[in-house]
Amino acid sequence: MNLLLVKNIHITCVASSYTLFFLRGVWLIQGSPRLRQRWVKIVPHMVDTLLLASAITLAIGIRQYPGVDAWLTAKVVGLLFYIGLGMMAFRFGKTMRARISAWVAAQLVFFYIVAVALTHNPLPLSAL
Ligand code: HEM
Repeated sequence: MNLLLVKNIHITCVASSYTLFFLRGVWLIQGSPRLRQRWVKIVPHMVDTLLLASAITLAIGIRQYPGVDAWLTAKVVGLLFYIGLGMMAFRFGKTMRARISAWVAAQLVFFYIVAVALTHNPLPLSAL
């Protein structure tokens, strides 16, 4: 297995996931009909599925696992929050204020996950 290739796929998915998430939030705030385009409902799920698949492949490849290695546990917990907040932003949020707050919070969680990935530390600021 070519781990470097998988890592590149993972990072490409990370960038695509964030770009789509950001764009959907902008459309939400603008009240744009573009948010209801068919591809906008499908592509983010495809990207996130590939993100997770590449994450699992990488973890197996470097023999480090969530539940064993704290930084990977932190990434999985972060991913669950990212997904949950995304669902609040785009599906279940009752008010626009709640939706936008969830959208902003999800982005903070996203950057936390990136910082954990770069430092291999669940408390990335302590690694500086
Ligand atoms: C939104 C979710 C995620 C983001 C933003 C993200 C981000 C990243 C980034 C930026 C890297 C490259 C780090 C570097 O260049 O050294 C990376 C690598 C990696 N990620 Fe993720 N990731 C996410 C989800 C996950 C999950 C859930 C897992 C857990 C299985 C995971 C496992 C890994 C592994 C094992 C590596 C390779 C680390 C290495 O080779 O040193 N990722 N991730």
